[in-house]
Amino acid sequence: MQKLVITGGTPLRGSVVASGAKNAALPLLASALLTDEPVVFENVPELADITTMIHLLEDLGCKVQRNGHRVEIDASAVNSTEANYDLVKTMRASILVLGPLLARFGKAKVSLPGGCSIGARPVDQHIKGMKALGAEISLEHGYVNAASPKLKGAKILTDMVTVTGTENLLMAAVLAEGQTIIENAAREPEIVDLARCLKSMGADISGEGTVTIVVNGVKKLHGTTYSVMADRIEAGSFLVAGIATGGDVTVTHCQPEYLGSVIDKLLEAGAEVITGDDWVRARSLGRTKAVDIRTVPYPGFPTDMQAQFMALDTISEGASHITETIFENRFMHVPELQRLGADINIDGNTATVRGVAKLSGAPLMATDLRASAALVIAALVAEGESTVDRIYHLDRGYEKMEEKLKALGAKIERVNK
Ligand code: UD1
Repeated sequence: MQKLVITGGTPLRGSVVASGAKNAALPLLASALLTDEPVVFENVPELADITTMIHLLEDLGCKVQRNGHRVEIDASAVNSTEANYDLVKTMRASILVLGPLLARFGKAKVSLPGGCSIGARPVDQHIKGMKALGAEISLEHGYVNAASPKLKGAKILTDMVTVTGTENLLMAAVLAEGQTIIENAAREPEIVDLARCLKSMGADISGEGTVTIVVNGVKKLHGTTYSVMADRIEAGSFLVAGIATGGDVTVTHCQPEYLGSVIDKLLEAGAEVITGDDWVRARSLGRTKAVDIRTVPYPGFPTDMQAQFMALDTISEGASHITETIFENRFMHVPELQRLGADINIDGNTATVRGVAKLSGAPLMATDLRASAALVIAALVAEGESTVDRIYHLDRGYEKMEEKLKALGAKIERVNK
């Protein structure tokens, strides 16, 4: 087990390169199952979740070569359509193999992911959509059993906006017979990235990035080489870390157009933000003002940035309300932030944060991926030394975070306990 030891108080300054997006890379890797030709992905981040997805694909019979940020997947010899519990339980996004397996092989057996620390997160909408495409689905012994000799295009309306649900249905629809219309589709940039890659494999898709995605099924997809988009959540996390510490951080190799709601909130907090074609610079102009946050699907403010902004609000001037509308249990960072001296009250899905003049270092425990980023940010601000335990959560989604922070001047060390 490893932990981070952080001495707060140094303003972060300099520039940092954004890594490839975890949430784009996971569905992209799964999409390689749709073809018997090799698919090459570039800019794949080196993260624990990516390793889990690669293990799952290998378990299904894919040949995978991983070389740094390049991953080549050959799914020509897939010999199993079963994603077992041991792999799925470690990462919910494993459900993303359901659509491609069903579309190419006519069957799939995927373990139900179960709950996770931030909420129940059911997959009923994935199942509802697959049924609309003609799959017969039964739930037995904790597994989704799906079968359909040939999926048929259909109109699918999901009850709520779901990111991986939209991705799964998109991957199922590309090889279905006829036209599929996905209504109430998620508009996240990661979905646009997946659609772009599928199109480069020969898929016929339009409307990605809007609430209605239209797919005309094709008989076969071919191999491609595709570079994963930049991680907008990682980029946003570094910008917040820079502002929270009173610094000046530029994130390069990113897509500022996907950071709109995050940049708006940084401006509202009183930071100076300048954007270029593929970079964003956020510079502190003094103590930040508290900003209200309400998490909503893209293009609204992302739930994956809620915890980081709460960390910023804890030391801002004034009080703020942070409302989490996507996940029911995404305030687990609150008791940890309180250990640093933050003034936060929770009432239902709203947290009221009253800014304090300073935080003081303390031992902390990470509870989930984005919460761990918030704790790192708060620890970088806090006076004295903090430790962040259980950083395997951080390693699931942030590539070399402490090295990147160190390059910006942070006093941070990874130590073995
Ligand atoms: C994805 C992201 C995650 C992000 C989330 C919301 C990946 C790998 N993960 O997660 O980082 O926090 O989007 O932006 O991309 N729901 C149902 N039934 C379903 C599907 C979802 O009730 O079948 C509910 C969920 O419980 C949640 C809401 O819908 O309350 C949104 O979830 P969803 O968009 O599906 O999140 P994920 O795709 O799991």
